[in-house]
Amino acid sequence: MALRNTHHRWGVLSQTFHWLIVALLILQVTLASLADDLPPGARKLGLLARHKSVGITILMLVILRLLWRSLNLTPLLPTTLKPYERVLARWTHGLLYALLFAMPLSGWMMSSARGFPVSWFGFFTLPDLVPRNKSLYEALITTHETLAWVLAVVVMLHVAAALKHHFMLRDDVLRRMLPFTAPTQGPKT
Ligand code: HEM
Ligand code: HEM
Repeated sequence: MALRNTHHRWGVLSQTFHWLIVALLILQVTLASLADDLPPGARKLGLLARHKSVGITILMLVILRLLWRSLNLTPLLPTTLKPYERVLARWTHGLLYALLFAMPLSGWMMSSARGFPVSWFGFFTLPDLVPRNKSLYEALITTHETLAWVLAVVVMLHVAAALKHHFMLRDDVLRRMLPFTAPTQGPKT
């Protein structure tokens, strides 16, 4: 399978970015909910430190993913899609990218406002994004939590659309994002 995208298929690198970020998001939500169930203490702080590092990793991966996307072709949407469906697909993907930035940035700002520096797996410490401020911290907790719910809803719509393409419309949209599958349209790369 080719490294780069074609008009008919996502390349290995784009697929890797997509599925790696999906896996890290699952890990991220698991770490947050495990930490949420614990009383204040070292174990909770340890889980949250990991949550922060994984969140910053997602931010770095999204930047690299968009950079790679800008250097590549983007697979064309099936010609059978109606104009409003194209707009919906573009907006949903745009919103997902925006949320993949907003989630880690709101978390990072939240930690700075609380006065906790953000370290990336202990390798380096990131600068504070905002000064220490209690009311800003409280507003950012609500923002981070609300954004997580918005992300969950948009992801559900996105997954529903992918499954509809595969099982009802029976086109290549899901297959071309999956490894080890041959597209039924375009060259078999
Ligand atoms: C894509 C990235 C991220 C996702 C999906 C995510 C998701 C979540 C979720 C679902 C929660 C639980 C909210 C609740 O209590 O109901 C949470 C909590 C939290 N997140 Fe994130 N997060 C991300 C990135 C980050 C980053 C980068 C940081 C900091 C650098 C961060 C810091 C925190 C903190 C400190 C909490 C606990 C807040 C509290 O005290 O209740 N998050 N996050
Ligand atoms: C869990 C979080 C997920 C996020 C944040 C996410 C994000 C994205 C984004 C931003 C794109 C647009 C790619 C681009 O145009 O550059 C995309 C494409 C895609 N995603 Fe997801 N995705 C997620 C989960 C899933 C799941 C679970 C599935 C499968 C059931 C899926 C199937 C697809 C497919 C098939 C495409 C390609 C659409 C096309 O070729 O036009 N995604 N995803």
